Amino acid sequence: MNVAVRPEDAVSHQPLAAPFLAGFRSLLSETTGTWVNWEGEAPSWLSGDLLRTGPALFEVGGRPYRHWFDGLAMLYRFALAPDGVAYTNRFLRSESFAAAIDDHRVMHGGFATNSDSPYWRRVMDPVIGRMTDNANVNVFKFGEDDFVALTEVPRAMRFDRQTLATLGALTWDDQLKSHTMTAHPLRDAWRRVVYNLETVFSVPSLYRLTRMADGVTTREVVAEIRVDHPAYMHSFAMSRNYLILVECPLVVHPLRMLLRSGPFISAYRWTPERGTCLTVVDKDSGTIVRRCLAEPCFGFHVVNAFEQDGTVAVDFVAYPDAAVVGGLALDRLRTGARQCAGMLTRFTVSLDTGTSATSILSDSLLELPHFDWRRQTGIAYRYVWAVGQSGAAFINDLQKHDLRCGTIARWSEPGCYAGEPVFVAAPEAEAEDDGIILSVVLDSQRHRSFLLLLDAATMTEQARAWMPHAIPFGFHGNHYPVAPRAQADG
Ligand code: CO
Repeated sequence: MNVAVRPEDAVSHQPLAAPFLAGFRSLLSETTGTWVNWEGEAPSWLSGDLLRTGPALFEVGGRPYRHWFDGLAMLYRFALAPDGVAYTNRFLRSESFAAAIDDHRVMHGGFATNSDSPYWRRVMDPVIGRMTDNANVNVFKFGEDDFVALTEVPRAMRFDRQTLATLGALTWDDQLKSHTMTAHPLRDAWRRVVYNLETVFSVPSLYRLTRMADGVTTREVVAEIRVDHPAYMHSFAMSRNYLILVECPLVVHPLRMLLRSGPFISAYRWTPERGTCLTVVDKDSGTIVRRCLAEPCFGFHVVNAFEQDGTVAVDFVAYPDAAVVGGLALDRLRTGARQCAGMLTRFTVSLDTGTSATSILSDSLLELPHFDWRRQTGIAYRYVWAVGQSGAAFINDLQKHDLRCGTIARWSEPGCYAGEPVFVAAPEAEAEDDGIILSVVLDSQRHRSFLLLLDAATMTEQARAWMPHAIPFGFHGNHYPVAPRAQADG
């Protein structure tokens, strides 16, 4: 099946200035249940689905989107078996997608690309003025078997796990109104709730932490924290008893956000003199337990957080400043090498004194961190898997960081660019790294992607399965077991 795209939308196949740019070419074809065999030996217990989302259409009406984060969302399902993979990919049928395909216009303003709608319509029109539904950042499972694709606003897009058919926007059963909501909700296995962080732009503005019990779509407010200049926060942290905000000094005046005529991220300003503010909030009472400053830095991803000896440790992928935000614009990526990854950094907040310490856990550049989130979220943990940038113009290799020993194991192959590593624990696993890593890798020489399966302990290849086409670089996804009703997690 191919999406009906008019000729002026057709993908340019001019020679690429750099091999990694193959990952920013649009993918127009969709496929359902295409079977591919593993090359190599996958474990006999392999089952379930790797579900992912990511930008896949990078131009509308012959006009390019400005930023990697703005491409139109494609959903991917890799249905896993010991002998092979059934591969399905479908565009998310969002309002943004329909407007792009049918009318050749950018309906909603994205991260760094403006809407084609005139300013007065965006303000006045209840639909066009609404936030984007181009959910290209992450997938998540709410409740029993309700899968959603997420972007950074409170419009979660439901989809069918088997067919990837779009089922429409998730309806919140509450009255909360927010402008942003992270695409990285955190599931608390102890309390059986999902937390998220939202922002309300107003005077004053609010950070709103919410919780939602399994099986319902009613958000409850955990805490509302007033803020004069809200920071851009892509994710937040959770330990056993606390939620932690890592507020980097990329901030916006709320009126500038509300009255802006330009895209979302261009309203923010880098203000290093503010430092990085760490706020520790009690999950149950919603009170701010500690608030302290660390050196200025920027980042998208918290890895994990945990409590130990009267402190809360928060691991974060930190950049020296916010230059990476502009550096991931598509025209910038096309002009040369960029630092697209940060350093694994630990903030330690003393619950007694309220002071913070910062330590760099590794000077190897990494991004899209993953760990055994089903078993280790919020508690002390040992291993982080991530993509890394090792002497290449773009993130290319896969890394396993042993936080106890300070060692790194890697996988890489010439001309190949790896995507987010997703850890899948072996059945009855005891060791934290007993399992496999799955990663969608683009081979720029063969113009095809393959699903790579590594031994998570050794980072050695066990198997790979070649997909029918090149898959553009995506962001996040997760593995979900076959029988969700039999599982308590997810
Ligand atoms: Co993310």
